[in-house]
Amino acid sequence: MLTLPSFRLEAFFAQWEFAARHHLTASDGQTVTVGELLEIAGTDPAELLGLELGYVPTTGTDALREAVAGTFAGTSRGGGAAVAPDDVLAFAGAEEALLLALSELLSPGDHAVVTVPNYQAMESVPIATGAEVTGLPLWTGSGESLRWTLDVDRVRDALRPATKVVAVNVPNNPTGFVPDLDAWLALAALCEERGIVLFSDEVYRGVEADPARTLPPAVEVCATGMTLDVTSKSLGLPGLRVGWLVSRDRALLGRIEARKHWTSICNAGPSELLATLAVRNAGALRARLRAVLDANTKTFDAFFADHAQWFDWQAPDGGCVAFPRYRGPDGVEEFCARLLHERGVLLLPASLYASDLATVPADRFRIGLGRRDPEPALAEVAAFLAAQA
Ligand SMILES: Cc1ncc(COP(=O)(O)O)c(C=O)c1O
Repeated sequence: MLTLPSFRLEAFFAQWEFAARHHLTASDGQTVTVGELLEIAGTDPAELLGLELGYVPTTGTDALREAVAGTFAGTSRGGGAAVAPDDVLAFAGAEEALLLALSELLSPGDHAVVTVPNYQAMESVPIATGAEVTGLPLWTGSGESLRWTLDVDRVRDALRPATKVVAVNVPNNPTGFVPDLDAWLALAALCEERGIVLFSDEVYRGVEADPARTLPPAVEVCATGMTLDVTSKSLGLPGLRVGWLVSRDRALLGRIEARKHWTSICNAGPSELLATLAVRNAGALRARLRAVLDANTKTFDAFFADHAQWFDWQAPDGGCVAFPRYRGPDGVEEFCARLLHERGVLLLPASLYASDLATVPADRFRIGLGRRDPEPALAEVAAFLAAQA
């Protein structure tokens, strides 16, 4: 087993996610009930009630893998070959896939490039394998002139003969950043040419603010691409705990599957059934979430415009989270701590995104736009700020 550090964000959530009055930093999308999902899918509840509660295959049920594979055919501007069910491997959430895939891909003596800031598993697992890991900052500039960017030249400069993996997450948590198509295709071509796995966390794909900016999945535009997705984020169903990896390298998927024999063995059957319905109806679920995101973006834009002396705000290009800058003299850590303890509003200060690979801007905090009705939480923030003036 790997020796892993504390997962700062998850440890913080373990303490506060269900204790704070206002969760204003959720990374998931507005969820639905089991009944609503069955209704969206047009499925008779008897199908769920009649399901036998036996084990399901470690790889994931055929139905789930067929549904996932079906989402790729013809959906890409990259024009890659269709994905087959055998190119898909199911997991208990995206987190299990991150752990097992990155620990299979990397060993001492190997090298990886990982974008920063990141969902901590993407850097802590590679570091724990004993591989050398280089951080690729997703920004240029600092303070109010900071810009999010994917600099492919910098990736190229970071590559070594021992580089096995380039790991990225777009749309990005926590920044909401989506690179442009040219940069994405250049990165895909670079990884393919060097035989490097482009490990691509695409859990927020499909809910971009401008649908024209939806990037083709790594597995469609890069022969060595590996796409990670899950029901948790763009489909709004984190409680199902069903994720999947998609790759053309079936031998590699087989080795990752062998690792899963030591963890969850297989997913919960009812979850895989519901996940299959969700994937088949991904368009409708994403449209629901996009409507929430569009309404919330207007609300957040207005809130931040009204409080421009306190914040630099940029709505996400895609996904459910943003990483605005706090301008107050007390600093973002104090701001978030007081907001939580005095007003019950949960945000994630920059320290929870601290990286061992690069210095993440210390004046930022993560905020979530994916859940309905953020107004009461924003009213608490406004009242808190008014009391500081
Ligand atoms: C970018 C990213 N990847 C992976 C995960 C893990 O997802 P899950 O909770 O579905 O395992 C998260 C969760 O927040 C995330 O934000």
